[in-house]
Amino acid sequence: MNLYEAIYLRHSVKKYKKQPIDPETLQKIGLFYEKAQPLVPGIETEIGIRENLTGRHVQRGLFSVSAPYYLLIYSESRDRADMNAGYIGEQLSLYMMTLGLASCFLAGTSLAGTPKTRGDKQLVIVMAFGYPEGKLTRRPEDAKRLPLSDLCVFKNEPTRWMNQVLEAARLAPSPFNRQPWRFVVVGSRIHIFSRKDGLDKLKNLDAFGFGIMFSHIAVASEELWLDVDLIRLENISQKNFKSSQYVLSAIVRSQES
Ligand SMILES: Cc1cc2nc3c(=O)[nH]c(=O)nc-3n(C[C@H](O)[C@H](O)[C@H](O)COP(=O)(O)O)c2cc1C
Repeated sequence: MNLYEAIYLRHSVKKYKKQPIDPETLQKIGLFYEKAQPLVPGIETEIGIRENLTGRHVQRGLFSVSAPYYLLIYSESRDRADMNAGYIGEQLSLYMMTLGLASCFLAGTSLAGTPKTRGDKQLVIVMAFGYPEGKLTRRPEDAKRLPLSDLCVFKNEPTRWMNQVLEAARLAPSPFNRQPWRFVVVGSRIHIFSRKDGLDKLKNLDAFGFGIMFSHIAVASEELWLDVDLIRLENISQKNFKSSQYVLSAIVRSQES
């Protein structure tokens, strides 16, 4: 299984075996993180792993998940830090799948004995992980997601590869499965909007979710040998939309064009 295949097979796992992960595998996760592409280069991040095989790091949070391991993502507090952390965090979650490990992001969770800051970096999210009690994978057709016809406005007929990239974006997990993203697809451009709910700025958690979804676009593009640029287009960002808020555009090009 590679990262792209993992997009189709992943699901959030809430029950784990109390099975240790060997140090080599844990080290692989650290090495993968060192090489993972950020969404916003220059934002300093750090990860930590909390082993919880004895359950001593009792977890606090509304929708807690008890797991044998937790991954902690810390980041400098800067513009788009949450989005950047989501982008990196999902790559780690997909990579874990390739190692046979399941995971689940946990919003608003804190672990006993785990500091909320590391130097000048803040704890952005906690992710439960470990060997799953049940199945590691799920059939993509069983993922509860809105269809592309509800998420996208197509200004012209999309290419096959554009549909594949959009499908990977559609499968992205989001907090409470809100799927706040909407796509306007014009040729090789995907203009990405967030459903507005009375807020001017994206809430931190939604921003984290958008980062996850962008990582799916990036992983799919790489798999399909496409070039992708994620950029904010000034002419769109200055427009006012009633029910949605502009986030970014993905310019996806086949390497032949
Ligand atoms: C940023 C983020 C935070 C989440 N927080 C929690 C959480 O606190 N508790 C929980 O049980 N699930 C949490 N989830 C999992 C989502 O509920 C889940 O991704 C969504 O319902 C879709 O299900 P799936 O991932 O199995 O496809 C979170 C997901 C994301 C992306």
